[in-house]
Amino acid sequence: MRVLIAEDDDVSRLLLERLLQKMGHEFISTKNGLEGLEAYQNNEIDMAILDWMMPEMDGIELCKKIRGIEGGTDEPMFIFMVTAKSDVKDMLHALVMGVDDFLTKPVDRKLFEQRIKMGMKYQNFLKQGNKSRIEPVLIMLEEHNVLRKLIHILDAIYDRLEAGIPLEILKWSTSALFKFTLEIHQRKEDLYLQSFINAVTSEHVDWFSDISESSFVSLAEEHEQLESLLMEIQGHISRYAIQDEPSTESLKEVVKSYSDLLLNHIQKEEKLFFPFAEKYLVPKEKFELVTQFHEIDSELGVNSKNQMVSDISEFLDCITQNENNLPLWRPIK
Ligand SMILES: [Fe+2]
Ligand SMILES: [Fe+2]
Repeated sequence: MRVLIAEDDDVSRLLLERLLQKMGHEFISTKNGLEGLEAYQNNEIDMAILDWMMPEMDGIELCKKIRGIEGGTDEPMFIFMVTAKSDVKDMLHALVMGVDDFLTKPVDRKLFEQRIKMGMKYQNFLKQGNKSRIEPVLIMLEEHNVLRKLIHILDAIYDRLEAGIPLEILKWSTSALFKFTLEIHQRKEDLYLQSFINAVTSEHVDWFSDISESSFVSLAEEHEQLESLLMEIQGHISRYAIQDEPSTESLKEVVKSYSDLLLNHIQKEEKLFFPFAEKYLVPKEKFELVTQFHEIDSELGVNSKNQMVSDISEFLDCITQNENNLPLWRPIK
């Protein structure tokens, strides 16, 4: 990879050169924005590291010029801004001007390597083209399929509750719901929702007041309702376990409210929210979301998520074949 460096300070420039060299990258080094611009126009450059404050032309101005020359290409060059500044307003301004990421002075070697790798990953991702892109919405739709299975399981539990269901099955089901909805799916959706709101508000500032009252915000509120209903279910099950609650009536009631709300909620997301949000998110935002989604999965352990998903499918298959299997099923340990 060939990296353009524009940095007026000799010591910092030398450090950047050394770090890139160690990573095995080529570089073209320049001492101010004007030189940087000339080098950009006369060479094939894959990535740029620009100092913010430079004589002749500063980093922001150079970034703006580069973005102008690129003219809204599908594969914009990744641009880092090196800065000692951490004023949020300044940073936001830099982002609007087309900066992709920041490196803070003094540059830390390990952090530098990671950020460069991240920038490369992003550029490769853009190069793969539209078709092979993993869309965050596809990940969420796939998870909705798992949620639908969980709703079927809840329905079966609801139907059989009076006849008696082993405590182990009740506990496993609620714990699967907890993990899948709260630790995985809703966290992703909250990020997606936030990223959508940011995208819309940056395009239509005047929309914000409408949005804050719109059905999109009610989705976030429903996440909270779903969470408290689930806690209620768990509370009933614990009381049921110590036989403090002889009747299953109230447990049934809350199970029903939960599964109705969840089904209604995911249908609303699929019909209204996802198609609308997709229009506002640009590839870079989608890429960042997918990266964050992977982080969420790996926090739980990808294998542990896969195991849970296959347990859920297996349980559902088992009780669909014969509903009398329900009390007998156990997850594979
Ligand atoms: Fe949701
Ligand atoms: Fe959802």
